[in-house]
Amino acid sequence: MTSDLSPIERAKFVAAKRAVDFVQDGMKLGLGTGSTAAWMVRCLAERVRNEGLRVQGVPTSTRTAELAHDLGLTVVSLDEAKWLDLTIDGADEVDRDLNLIKGGGAALLQEKIVATASDRMVVIADAAKDVTQLGAFPLPVEVIPFGWQTTKSLIEELLTGMDVLGRDVTLRMNGDRPLLTDEANYIVDLHLKRIGNPRQLALVLNQIPGVVENGLFIDICDVVVIGHGDGRVEVRDINAGTVEQDRLFFTAPDNIFLEADE
Ligand code: 5RP
Repeated sequence: MTSDLSPIERAKFVAAKRAVDFVQDGMKLGLGTGSTAAWMVRCLAERVRNEGLRVQGVPTSTRTAELAHDLGLTVVSLDEAKWLDLTIDGADEVDRDLNLIKGGGAALLQEKIVATASDRMVVIADAAKDVTQLGAFPLPVEVIPFGWQTTKSLIEELLTGMDVLGRDVTLRMNGDRPLLTDEANYIVDLHLKRIGNPRQLALVLNQIPGVVENGLFIDICDVVVIGHGDGRVEVRDINAGTVEQDRLFFTAPDNIFLEADE
């Protein structure tokens, strides 16, 4: 079954599998959103089944909540958990300082709240997301529907003074309607091509009243696990200053793949 996976899915799988090694008995966990995070939820459920780990998970989207529920994980709200030991989540881009672009799956708001309420954030990604400079992936920004066109104009005006290469801003659609986030907000995507100063951009975007949150995660991620299609993984820990190379073998039981639906 594992041989049926595309190289990119194998890369996501090995990153997720390696990251789940960070989980210890009794932990409260933030559960990320997206296809890589979905592998992590499956690998976590497998460890819970096989080792009897007692963990509580706080999902970052309704999609992740449903998957975690279906796999028998204990799901609690952030308000019940209050503070988390570890969050494991995917990303759209990761730079050398472990700053991130997130929100490709429109869950950036809950993801940022949950990651910020965690002692540690581990990001899992395939090698295509490993970049020297952020910005090729359009930066998602969650905005309030009320007056969203005015908010979009304010963002465009702001971008004229920023160190970026592109300045197009588009409303994310779901068919012929604006896509709605779990909080019933809209997402605008900023096609910046290159972000010269992600820290500054993250701060100023959030000064615009209609902006709820932006997809730049600055100084939030502690560890990144980069997966490759041949089973290699690289684990970079920004606090310890270490980089570990490892190789995983595709030994997961077939049922973990049968459950794959993202
Ligand atoms: C969702 C996210 C995802 O983590 C990000 O889009 C990566 O997704 P995938 O693992 O499917 O490539 O930020 O809001």
